[in-house]
Amino acid sequence: MLVGKRVLLGLTGGIAAYKGPALVRALTAAGAEVRVVTTQAAERFVTPMSLQAVSGHPVASDLFDPAFEHDIGHIELARWPDIILVAPATASFLARTRHGLCADLLGTVLCATTAPVVIAPAMNTQMWLHRPVQENVRALASWEGYHIVSPDSGELACREVGAGRLPDPPVLLDAIVEALGVRRNTALAGRRVLVTAGPTREPLDPVRFLSNHSSGKMGFAFAAEAASMGAHVTLIAGPVALATPRDVERIDVVCAQEMFDAVMARASTTDIVVKAAAVADWRPAAPTDQKKKKVEGTLTVEFERTQDILATLGAMTDNRPILVGFAAETENIEAYARGKITAKNLDYIVANQVGGPRSTFGADDAEVLLIAREGVATGIGPAAKHQVARTVLELVAAETQS
Ligand code: CTP
Repeated sequence: MLVGKRVLLGLTGGIAAYKGPALVRALTAAGAEVRVVTTQAAERFVTPMSLQAVSGHPVASDLFDPAFEHDIGHIELARWPDIILVAPATASFLARTRHGLCADLLGTVLCATTAPVVIAPAMNTQMWLHRPVQENVRALASWEGYHIVSPDSGELACREVGAGRLPDPPVLLDAIVEALGVRRNTALAGRRVLVTAGPTREPLDPVRFLSNHSSGKMGFAFAAEAASMGAHVTLIAGPVALATPRDVERIDVVCAQEMFDAVMARASTTDIVVKAAAVADWRPAAPTDQKKKKVEGTLTVEFERTQDILATLGAMTDNRPILVGFAAETENIEAYARGKITAKNLDYIVANQVGGPRSTFGADDAEVLLIAREGVATGIGPAAKHQVARTVLELVAAETQS
C-alpha cells in the first residue's frame, strides 16, 4: 500500500507517543521507509532508542544536534519525505504549527517542507474541546496540503471518556494513503489468495525441534500486498515473530503436517496459492513424549519425509488453484527452479538465493527470478520484499485474469 513511500513520522509529547514504535512497524509493514523526529517532550514517553531500532534510522529532536545535522540536515530532512505524519499531535504542537514556530527540529522541518502533512491530534477531551485548540485545528485543516485526522472517542489515559484518543494505525495509514492520492490497485479484487510463510518446526521431543532460518518476511509481504490489491487473503504462518498484515486472515501452524492440513482444507476454494513457506522436508521419525535425556557418545536420529504440500496441490485434478512455488537454492538457481516447476506441476516459481552474503533469509530486500511455466523468466530486484511481492502478484494477476 505504501511501497516505496518515504514517511517522516513526527511524535510530540502526549501519552499516546508510547504507541510510536507500533506505528512505525505498521508503516514499514505497509512497505514505507520511515524516519522519526520527536519533540523533547515526546522523549519522556518513548525512547529515541526504540524508535531508532524499529525505523532503522537515527532519531532526533534537537535542531542543533551536530551528529544528526551531519547525517541528514534539517533542510534535507524536510525534502526527504513523500508525506509527514504527526501522531500524536499535542495542543501545544497545534498552536506552534499554526503560528509557524521553528522552535525545534519538527517545527523547522514543517516550515521547510513541501510534502503533504497529516496531523492526528490526541489529548484529554476538555483540552481537545478548548476553543483555541479547535480554532487551531480548523485553521490547519484549511491549509493546502494539511489533513487532520480527528481523534477517536473512548476511555483516555486520564480515565475520562470522550474524544481525544489517537486512532489505531490502520486509520492513520488510510489517512496517509488518501493524502498521497495513492491509486488503489484492484488487480486481485475478489480473488481468494492463500499464502504460506515462515519455517516449520518438526519436534524431536517436547523441547527440541528441527527447523530453518526462514523469517517469514517474504510470505508476510505477499499477504500484505495481495490484500492491498483487493484479494481475500488467508495467511498460513509457521512460527514467526511478525505482525499480521491488515485485512488478512491468519492461521498459525507449527509443523509441516499442520501446514499441510490447513492448506489442503482450503485448496479447492482458493484461486491462487503462494507457497513461500520453507517447509521441512524431513521430520524425526519417532518424536518422544518425554524429553530425551543426554547420554554419552553420539546420537543418531532417524528422519522421515514430510508430505510435499506443493506437489500435492499440483496433483489436484478438480479446482486446482494457480500455484506460485518458491525455490530456495544455494547454487544452479534457475536450473533447479525450472526442475521444480515440472516436478510439482506449478504455474510459476519464485527462485532466490539462500546461503552466503546474498542470502534472502531474514533480509528486508530480495532479488528473485520469477519463472513462468511457459518458460519466461523475469528478474525482479534487488528491492524491498514488499516491492518484489507486488511485482510478482501484478504479473501473476495480469496473466491469470479469470
Ligand atoms: N514445499 C512444500 N512442502 C514441502 C516442502 C516444500 O510445499 N514438504 C514447497 C515450498 O513451500 C516451496 C517449494 O516447495 O514453495 C520448494 O521448496 P524447496 O525446499 O526449495 O524444494 P524441495 O522441493 O524441497 O527440493 P530441495 O530441498 O531438493 O531443493
